[in-house]
Amino acid sequence: MKIKIIYTSLTGNTQETVEVLSDALTAQDIDVEIFDSEDGIEVEDFFTDADAYVLAIFTDGDGEVPDGIIDFYDDIADFDLTDIPVAVLGTGDTSYDDFCHAVDLLAEQCTASGARLAVPTLKIELAPDDAAITAIEQFGQQLTQQVAAE
Ligand SMILES: Cc1cc2nc3c(=O)[nH]c(=O)nc-3n(C[C@H](O)[C@H](O)[C@H](O)COP(=O)(O)O)c2cc1C
Repeated sequence: MKIKIIYTSLTGNTQETVEVLSDALTAQDIDVEIFDSEDGIEVEDFFTDADAYVLAIFTDGDGEVPDGIIDFYDDIADFDLTDIPVAVLGTGDTSYDDFCHAVDLLAEQCTASGARLAVPTLKIELAPDDAAITAIEQFGQQLTQQVAAE
C-alpha cells in the first residue's frame, strides 16, 4: 500500500505530526511519500499513484488556511477527486477562537470535489504530546485498515 502526505508547517508542529504519522505507517510496511506544499507540487501530480492521500495543515490568521498551502487548497476546487480516499489532520492552538479551523476547511474542500474522508479528521494541540502521538498512530492505523478493507 502506498500513501502520499502533503503538509504545510511554519514552526514545525505540523511537520512533527507528519513525521509521527509517517513513522507509524512505515512501521506497518506502508510505502510513504511526503511533500512540503511549499515545494509547489500540483494537485494533479499529488493525487495520483497512491492508495490514500493525507493532508496536514496548521491554522493561521483567524481560522485561515496558511499562505504556504493556499494555492494547492484553491486548486483542489477545480479538480475531480471523486471516490479518492483522503485523510486530513492538523495542529492548532486552543487559545484561538477557531481551533484547527483550517483542518475543517481543507476537509470540506476535498469532499466538495468528491473525495471521501477515509477517517475522521484529527486535530492536535501544538506539538504532539504523548497522548497526541498515540492518537496520530491510531489515525494511521485506522486509515490503513479502512483502505485495505475497500
Ligand atoms: C498569526 C497566527 C494565527 C493563528 N491562528 C490560529 C487559529 O485561528 N486557530 C488555531 O487553532 N491556531 C492558530 N494559530 C496557532 C497555530 O496554528 C499553531 O501554533 C500550529 O501548531 C502551528 O503549526 P506549525 O508549527 O506546523 O507551523 C495561529 C498562530 C499564529 C502565529
